[in-house]
Amino acid sequence: MVDSGTKLKIRRLLKTIICLFSLTFVVLFTVAFVRTLTLDVDVGLQHAQWEKTKNISLDIGREQREELLDNFKESIRIPTVSFAESNYNTTALLEFNRFLRKAFPTVYSSSLVHHEVVANYSHLFWVEGSQPDLLPYLLLAHVDVVPASESDAWDLPPFSAKEMDGFIYGRGTLDDKSSLMGILQALEYLLRKGYAPRRGFYIGLGHDEEVSGKNGALNIVNVMKQRGVQLSFVLDEGMLITENLSSFLGGSTAFIGISEKGSATIKLSVSTPPGHSSMPPKETCIGILAAAVKRIEDNPMPRLFGYGPERLSFEHMAHKFSFPVKFMMSNLWLFSPLIGRVLERQPISNSLVRTTTAVTMFNSGVKFNIIPSLAEAFVNLRIHSAQSLEEALDHIRSRVADERVKMELIDGFDPLPVSSTDEKSFGFQIIKKTVLEVFPSVTVAPGICVGNTDSRHFKDFTKDIFRFIPAWLKSGDYLRFHGINERISKKNYEEFVVFYSSLIQNCDIQKLPEPHGSVHEL
Ligand SMILES: *[C@@H]1O[C@H](CO)[C@@H](O)[C@H](O)[C@H]1NC(C)=O
Ligand SMILES: *[C@@H]1O[C@H](CO)[C@@H](O)[C@H](O)[C@H]1NC(C)=O
Ligand SMILES: *[C@@H]1O[C@H](CO)[C@@H](O)[C@H](O)[C@H]1NC(C)=O
Ligand SMILES: *[C@@H]1O[C@H](CO)[C@@H](O)[C@H](O)[C@H]1NC(C)=O
Ligand SMILES: [Zn+2]
Repeated sequence: MVDSGTKLKIRRLLKTIICLFSLTFVVLFTVAFVRTLTLDVDVGLQHAQWEKTKNISLDIGREQREELLDNFKESIRIPTVSFAESNYNTTALLEFNRFLRKAFPTVYSSSLVHHEVVANYSHLFWVEGSQPDLLPYLLLAHVDVVPASESDAWDLPPFSAKEMDGFIYGRGTLDDKSSLMGILQALEYLLRKGYAPRRGFYIGLGHDEEVSGKNGALNIVNVMKQRGVQLSFVLDEGMLITENLSSFLGGSTAFIGISEKGSATIKLSVSTPPGHSSMPPKETCIGILAAAVKRIEDNPMPRLFGYGPERLSFEHMAHKFSFPVKFMMSNLWLFSPLIGRVLERQPISNSLVRTTTAVTMFNSGVKFNIIPSLAEAFVNLRIHSAQSLEEALDHIRSRVADERVKMELIDGFDPLPVSSTDEKSFGFQIIKKTVLEVFPSVTVAPGICVGNTDSRHFKDFTKDIFRFIPAWLKSGDYLRFHGINERISKKNYEEFVVFYSSLIQNCDIQKLPEPHGSVHEL
């Protein structure tokens, strides 16, 4: 029996607890609400007073348009394919070297430009600035493409650069000859118009990005290290402009990649004594390994949404949304578990939420009546920014939890550092300003690359590495990367040339302007 006095006490206690809960809720809600109203990371330097350095505007006329498209198509027709590490079409790569010289005569003859071939097929250009005190930057792109077969179901042959409905089709039109050719074409036109940069810059073109960059990008890195180069920032491929990202986000967002997920390839193997299938043991190596693989698939890595730089993406985009989505996106500190649960339902957005694990190979057995002695599986991880390679491996180890399964790390690296995006970040602010000049209607937001690029080899030169090309992508278009019907619209390629021409001139400012007005802080 509980007497009435005790009952009263319990009731009072419950009331207090409920009160505390509601109070906490009200406080959290108020903070979140105020944050939603004041968090406007998109204002930044947009209204600040920028030094004017863009003296040359490209007015692309009919003749120039024809020239730049012809050059671009010719670059697509040279099949600079990487088949595997240290296995590429060297005939095509050598042809590409000659082609660049022919397509960009002013770049190759200007006294401001120093060109060198690195590791036979890669290129490093140094464009001298008139003010050596301004820290140079690096534009990166790659010469090689992934294979494409004439027998695949392309609407137009993959190395033909043929046109349909205003699009040029071909392997490399998005990845990454649009960027490579756009950079050099912009420089060619600027130099023809008498441009001389104040801020010097490098252009690096690797020849084996698709198969690790170990021969191309890494040798460019070595050359630059020998010269003691320091960089203000690096701009490489990686992310782009997405149109109508989701049903409730109209308009387009230019994602500037500020980090890359880490990666690991793990080999799992089980050895058991071989034998005849007429007298099988209780467990075979196949069964043991299959069970381990199943445990890995059944236990995904922890949800980490909100703990990495993806939080910045959402905060930059929040103002585009209406309540209540805006409210939630401005307050990931409160809502990330909920949003994370929604995102993990789709494979694309799940890749933002956690370290993904993909079992990609499973091999065992040679004959139907022989018990095999070895079973092997490969697991490919893409590591979330808030986790380390070591932590991801520990997770896999704890899921396998069977000492008969041997685990071997074939290759792996931590997630890449997160580049700066604040008002003092020269690279981010210049790229953002240039995007908004060329594409006034888009929103600019930081993003995380789920794939890897050559730029990761350059992390000793600067902490500020950005991954962006000015290509427009509609939902579903991402399948064209490394897939069939890779294409770019003629108009979009022209925008590449304009974009890089503006970017190069925008980099000529002495320093970033002071932020305009007060900055909201909470
Ligand atoms: C742009 O032109 C102005 C005026 O002619 C000149 O003072 C300035 O130095 C130029 N800027 C660059 C970056 O060339
Ligand atoms: C390599 O490229 C050349 C053109 O430079 C082409 O003729 C040849 O077919 C290509 N080889 C392969 C294996 O793709
Ligand atoms: C460059 O080409 C030369 C001659 O064909 C060859 O001996 C050398 O190994 C090549 N170097 C690289 C880095 O591929
Ligand atoms: C994006 O949305 C706008 C407005 O709803 C629409 O006019 C446009 O056609 C859409 N673009 C694409 C690529 O779906
Ligand atoms: Zn690429």
